[in-house]
Amino acid sequence: MLRNLVILFFLSFLLFVNTGCGSKKVEKKPTHDSVSIKDVHTLSNGDSIVFEHLDLDIKVDMVGKKISGNAHWTINNKNTNKDLRLDTYDLTIDSVWVDGKKVAFRLDSPIKFLGSALHVPVTANTQSVTVWYATGPNARALQWLDPQQTHDKKYPFLFTQSESIYARSWIPCPDGPGIRFTYNAKVSVPKELMALMSAVNPQESNDSGVYRFVMDQPIPAYLMALAVGDIAFRSIDDRTGVYAEKGMIDKARYEFDGVGRMVDNAEQLYGQYRWGRYDAIVLPPGFPIGGMENPKLTFATPTIIAGDRSLMSLIAHELAHSWSGNLVTNATWNDFWLNEGFTDYFERRIMEQMMGKSYSDMLWELGYQDLVTAVDELTLTNKKDTWLKLDLKGRDPDDGLTDIPYEKGSHFLKLLEISVGRDRFDHFLKQYFNQFAFKTITTEAFLVYMDTALFKDNEVLKSKINIKQWVYGAGIPENCPRVDQERFAKVDSERDKFLADVEPAHLNTTEWTTHEWLHFLRKMPPALSVLQMKKLDDVYNFSNSENSEIADLWFIMAVRAGYTKAYPKMEEFLSMVGRRKFLEPLYGQMMKSPQTAEMGIKIYNNFRKNYHPLAQESLDKIVWKK
Ligand code: BES
Ligand code: ZN
Repeated sequence: MLRNLVILFFLSFLLFVNTGCGSKKVEKKPTHDSVSIKDVHTLSNGDSIVFEHLDLDIKVDMVGKKISGNAHWTINNKNTNKDLRLDTYDLTIDSVWVDGKKVAFRLDSPIKFLGSALHVPVTANTQSVTVWYATGPNARALQWLDPQQTHDKKYPFLFTQSESIYARSWIPCPDGPGIRFTYNAKVSVPKELMALMSAVNPQESNDSGVYRFVMDQPIPAYLMALAVGDIAFRSIDDRTGVYAEKGMIDKARYEFDGVGRMVDNAEQLYGQYRWGRYDAIVLPPGFPIGGMENPKLTFATPTIIAGDRSLMSLIAHELAHSWSGNLVTNATWNDFWLNEGFTDYFERRIMEQMMGKSYSDMLWELGYQDLVTAVDELTLTNKKDTWLKLDLKGRDPDDGLTDIPYEKGSHFLKLLEISVGRDRFDHFLKQYFNQFAFKTITTEAFLVYMDTALFKDNEVLKSKINIKQWVYGAGIPENCPRVDQERFAKVDSERDKFLADVEPAHLNTTEWTTHEWLHFLRKMPPALSVLQMKKLDDVYNFSNSENSEIADLWFIMAVRAGYTKAYPKMEEFLSMVGRRKFLEPLYGQMMKSPQTAEMGIKIYNNFRKNYHPLAQESLDKIVWKK
């Protein structure tokens, strides 16, 4: 009996020590906390005042193309600031209330890229601030589609894109990635439409047109998201599913079939998926990017619906952000590689697990090619943009949106993996995601953490990696890893045959996937002759490809070669697709020579209205030279 008691006492002592240490670790303020970090892209003081929770109550006017309502912030003014500042961009502020009393506010004049700071007088005891507002015509986050611009062409559609600093154009908020809050929302939309957010979502539309949302895990403003349209849902398994316009939903469901297994695979790699459900919505074609990792609900371009599930690595990427980015978040946009480099690495690990190594090796190699291109281009314009740690002070944070954070970042992690061994590296990453869950991290804090968690007592190994050169140095370091070229080597030899005049019909292309075709086309000499283009097209029908990645690349080659037969299809492609990654190089190619520039301008003037405001901004520069 006594012995049992002693054991029991000893056991509870152990438990006490254990949990005691555990909770201590959690409570201790880490040095990377947002308080000490300067984010040059927010005018708010969310680093000093705690913005705990947002209650959003908005009405979406699809005809007037305007969102209006109020944002009610629950705050903790622990540092007794007198002035609370929120980010806004092109918002009309109607009134501001502090703890239920109307107050006089001040709206600064706008600063380029950043918008206007909204100043609200507060006291140490202030508990809430409510802002009544409406969005303006230049809301950069919002794309309003007329029925004609949707897939089904029956109802209007609205979606948001808040990353990097556009949340402020539809919600007055502390808009920095280092500032997290929970939210509830009430969104009123026309009765025939349904609303979805980065929160717990409905699976059916209701008759009232009023939708309520809860996001009870703290997220930064760039992950605030809303989509409104005539939307249907299909389940994949008990925690995954897909939304799309009704006419698109069956295709989407087919393409996304593997997504349930994808979440399982991701969990096997780096630990539990912490966001409850994982759903995705396939948006109308004007969506300006490939995918956006809005928590619980990835937003995706319809250009990944290839009919053969061959472009699903993009969903693996957005899913991976549920760990790298949404759970552990870059503290500022200068640390963007911590979001995207980690996610690219994680994406390829998921694909390796699901599709095999020779498949993920192709993704790595295409990524490496993108890295080389990006470094070549940026070395001419702004060499420092090839560092992993960026310097975006005074600039548009989207200037940092190049292949560098993605590809140099993921290759750096790959090098770490090879150097310390996969098991050790996986253990490290898993621990990293747990340690920094729901926190933000700077490049510097990551390097410190890595020092102890990965390289403790192993200075020799560490020095071989040359971390400084990777993070604070230009170009591609010499020790950049390169994968096996097994499948692409075969592609290379078929391409060589073609270039030596073997008829396309005699090439061995059986079992090629999208990625082999991409490599086949990418590595063609700069300009093929019209005859060569025609021969390829006759056999492989590239001009009519249903695969957006292949089609885009083919059209670029067609413009280069003056292969006019592809132009009508190209125009059709440009009339609908709004994905910047496709539009920019294609218009860019057209603008390179006077013959095709005229066509480029004409097509652009016709279809500009179909593109997202952000795509318009970058394309105006390319096509109108604005
Ligand atoms: N988070 C990014 C998209 C983003 C980054 C939007 C910065 C605005 C500013 C997303 O996860 C992403 O990387 N999308 C890629 C696809 C991916 C497979 C590389 C895209 O849209 O092309
Ligand atoms: Zn990403």
